[in-house]
Amino acid sequence: MDELLNYINGEWRPAASGATTENRSPADHDDLVGRFAASDREDANAAIGAATDAFPAWRFTSALTRANILHKAANILEGRIQDIGRELTREEGKTLKEGIGETTRAVQILRYYAGEAQQPSGEHYPSMSPTTLLYTLREPLGPIAVITPWNFPIAIPAWKIAPALAFGNTVVFKPASLTPMCAVRFVEALADAGLPAGVVNLVTGSSSKVAEPLTNDPRIVAITFTGSNEVGAALRKTAAARGAKLQLELGGKNPAIVLADADVDHALLHVVNGAMMSAGQKCTATSRAIVDRRLADEFTQKLADRIKSLKVGDPLHPETQIGPVIDEGAAKRLVAEVSAAASGGAKVVAGGDRVSNGDLGRGHFVAPTLLADVAPDSRMGQEEMFGPVLGVIPVDDVDEAISVANSVRFGLSASLFTRDLGKALSFVQAIQAGVVHVNSETAGAEPQVPFGGMKGSSSFSREQGKSAREFFTQVKTVYIDPPPAQ
Ligand code: UN1
Repeated sequence: MDELLNYINGEWRPAASGATTENRSPADHDDLVGRFAASDREDANAAIGAATDAFPAWRFTSALTRANILHKAANILEGRIQDIGRELTREEGKTLKEGIGETTRAVQILRYYAGEAQQPSGEHYPSMSPTTLLYTLREPLGPIAVITPWNFPIAIPAWKIAPALAFGNTVVFKPASLTPMCAVRFVEALADAGLPAGVVNLVTGSSSKVAEPLTNDPRIVAITFTGSNEVGAALRKTAAARGAKLQLELGGKNPAIVLADADVDHALLHVVNGAMMSAGQKCTATSRAIVDRRLADEFTQKLADRIKSLKVGDPLHPETQIGPVIDEGAAKRLVAEVSAAASGGAKVVAGGDRVSNGDLGRGHFVAPTLLADVAPDSRMGQEEMFGPVLGVIPVDDVDEAISVANSVRFGLSASLFTRDLGKALSFVQAIQAGVVHVNSETAGAEPQVPFGGMKGSSSFSREQGKSAREFFTQVKTVYIDPPPAQ
């Protein structure tokens, strides 16, 4: 069992108070993954101090130096993919294939931002005066608070921290308290790649003890957060009150619309994968299948058959398709949500209960669940479940499908399954979602394109791709005129 430490000013150290906390696998409460620093205000303060002191030198390193460090970190992480992927699975519960896949994605993100660091930054403009050199620079912001969720415990830290560093910022990183091991592994790769002391600082611990002092500190210029809408709402107040720059990635209630002309087997595969992979614990997961009424019975039956056939079990086992949900609270909440939906008139056609046979009784397993006849305005039709739960909503046509799809407060991702190009184009225009798919699942995000939601799913800014530069830098406009001739 590992004892894992904070990383502050280039040193691995325990919490100042000496306190630690245990981290157990969601698949098996007897599996102790590690002991971690249970940090508080004093540790957050030391990390903010280190990030503040490191900023002036780091911002003036060349982009090439920063790119080289990110490249090196990518190579180091790549050499550790198998081990870290396994640790990710033990700690978070997604299947081994997904754990390794996510670690591979973190490597790709580091490489992408190593390249992006060297791309043009700022623009040259014609001036009213023919002799004025008029251009913009994009400068780093300063020390940034990076607060990440447990469901992508290495990819999301990578997609926030890599651009923050590439563009010359320093970071205080507070990972979800349920997945500190992956955070340690990511920071180890950066430290081993030669990142100077203080440029990235890791502080593990609870939100109340670490995130609260971190986000309220005036030295932290910007906050980037992925997680719940409730925490996002509180951060909006904090950031607005003291003028910090803020980026939020919040929930989703993502629809997959299946039209009568869709290729049924193809749609089935993508709807089930979108809903059930990572046990449905993605903000991009499909949680509503909005299906043309002419196809609804047949499609629901096929969904039920496929969902019932998914193999639930130990996520480290190569045949497992659905691992546990993150903790006992989540498992209990999901079962209660399904039974409330059933009392409200939806039909449970697959799952609906815990899975606790044999060894699985030591983890937090929920059967992949399908509900038919979900009312669009019911709680099941409106609210994020964040688990392996899919609801079917029958509709009359594509217009009703889009209007139902848009009738929620979220707008992260959406899919349409059809062979009709005209309907696909109308969907792309009318759907209120930041990430739109035609004939593929709602989840997934390639690093080179913007990612983020509309409406309640985000704060308008986008992560990843070239958009990351917009959040992690600020603009300086420069007018240079020649001195008058002597
Ligand atoms: C994906 O769909 O692969 O927290 C990424 C989340 C999202 C990331 C989804 N911010 O689930």
